[in-house]
Amino acid sequence: MLNVALPKGRLGDKVYSLLASIGYECKEILEDTRKLIFINEENGVKYFLVKPSDVAIYVENGAADIGVVGKDILLESESDVYELLDLGFGKCRMCVAAKDDFRDNTSRPLRVATKFTNIAKNYYDSINREIEIVKLNGSVELAPILGLSDVIVDIVETGKTLVENGLSVKEEIVPISARLIVNKSSYFFKSDEIDKIVTELGGDKK
Ligand code: PRP
Repeated sequence: MLNVALPKGRLGDKVYSLLASIGYECKEILEDTRKLIFINEENGVKYFLVKPSDVAIYVENGAADIGVVGKDILLESESDVYELLDLGFGKCRMCVAAKDDFRDNTSRPLRVATKFTNIAKNYYDSINREIEIVKLNGSVELAPILGLSDVIVDIVETGKTLVENGLSVKEEIVPISARLIVNKSSYFFKSDEIDKIVTELGGDKK
C-alpha cells in the first residue's frame, strides 16, 4: 500500500489527477465529502488529505510515504525528506518586496515581516545583513504600509497583490514550484514503486 499525503485544495486536485493517471485512481476522493482518508485496495493506494503546510510533516514522520509540497514550505520546514522531483507547476517566486520608494538604511537592522522566518533568516545571513523578524500569518503586504516593517519576504505569483498595495519586488530569493517528496525509509523499502512514479510523473529523478 502506498500512502500519499495530498495537499487540500487546488494543488492537491492537480496532484491527484496526475497520480490517478498513472494507476493510483481512487474515485471516492472526487465525491463531495468531509472524509480525510481515501483507500483503493485494488490500486494499492491510500490518500490522506492534509493542510498544504503539513505535507512535509506527514512524510518526514513516515505517516505518508510520499507527498507533494511547495518548495517554499520545504525550505521553511527544513524537513528531513528526499526531494525527488520538480513537478514544474505551482510556480512562483520567493521575494523581498517593499514600498516603491524604499531605500535600505544600513545603519540599523532591517525589519522584515514574513510567514517564512527561516527562509528570511537564511537569506539575510547569506548576505550578512542584520534583521529583525516580524512574524505574521498572512496579509503580510500590510506590514510595510502600516510601518510595521521595512520589507516583506513573501511569495509572488502574478505580482498583483504587490501592485495593488503600492509595493514592488526588490530582490528575488528563490524560484518556487511543487516538489515530490519521499520519506527516507519508505524510499529504501519501496524504491522500485517510487522510482516508477518519479519516471512516470517527470522523467528523470532529481
Ligand atoms: C499569497 C502571498 C501573496 C499572494 C501573491 O497569499 O502571500 O499575498 O499570494 O500572489 P500574487 O502575486 O498572484 O498576487 P495567499 O493567497 O496564500 O494568502 P495569505 O498569505 O495572505 O494568507
